[in-house]
Amino acid sequence: MGRRLLIAGNWKMNGMRAELAEIDAIAAAVARGEEGPGELLVSPPATLLSAVRDRLPNEVRVAAQTCHHNAKGAHTGDLSAEMLREAGAEYVILGHSERRSDHRESDDHVRACAQAAIRADLQPIICVGESEAERDAKETLTVLGRQLDGSVPDEATPEALVIAYEPIWAIGTGKTPTADDVAEVHGFLRNRLALRFGHAFASRVRILYGGSVKPSNAAEFFAVDDVDGALIGGASLKAEDFLAIARLARER
Ligand code: PGA
Repeated sequence: MGRRLLIAGNWKMNGMRAELAEIDAIAAAVARGEEGPGELLVSPPATLLSAVRDRLPNEVRVAAQTCHHNAKGAHTGDLSAEMLREAGAEYVILGHSERRSDHRESDDHVRACAQAAIRADLQPIICVGESEAERDAKETLTVLGRQLDGSVPDEATPEALVIAYEPIWAIGTGKTPTADDVAEVHGFLRNRLALRFGHAFASRVRILYGGSVKPSNAAEFFAVDDVDGALIGGASLKAEDFLAIARLARER
C-alpha cells in the first residue's frame, strides 16, 4: 500500500516573524530537491499561517493547530475551520494532548472539530495518546481505542484523515517508546479503524508517530511498516533538524 510518509512540524506556541527565516530555509531546500521522499507539512501559530503559506512552494503543506466547531459566530478569540482554510491552512491538528489538558478538550469536542474541518475542506490530523500513569497501569490500548472511536467522525475519508499517536510521556521529554511498542500501537489503531470503516479504508489512512522525534531516532520509527510519518514538536523549530528528519523518510 503506497502511503506516502508525512513529515509534520508542530511549532506549537512558537514563532514570531523572525522565525520565517526557517520557512525560507525549508523552501530553499525544496527548491534544491533536498527534502526527501515524504510530504512535508508545517503547522505554525495562526498568526503566521498566511505568511508561511505565501513563502512555501505548493507541495509543502500548511496546518493550523486547532479550530472551532462552528463556521462563525459569537466565540471571542476562536478561529473557524473556514477562516483557517482561507488563511492558507490545508490540514488542522486536532485533539493534541496539550489541547486536551490545557483546554479540557474531550473526544466529543475533537470529533465536532473534525466534522467542522471536513466541512471546510481541511484535513484533520487527530491526535491520541496515553499518559504515563495509564501506560504503567497497562491501559494504553484501552485508552487509545476509546480516544480513536470518540474522536474520529463518521464523515472521515481515508485520504483526508491522518492519525497521530503521541504518548503524552514522550512529548518534549526525550523519552520514546521502542519501535516494537510503536508497531504494536499503530497496528492496533489500524485494526480498530478497519473494524469500523473496513480494511480498504484503514489501509489508506496515514498514522504518524509523535513524541521526541529527532534526527537521531527518526529512522527507527520510519522503519516500522505501520508508521506513515512523524509529528515533530521541538525538533521542527529549526529547519536544519526538520529537514534532517525528512531526509530519513523512506520511499514507499
Ligand atoms: P516533541 O512534541 O517532538 O517536542 O516531543 C511532539 C508533539 O507534541 O507534537
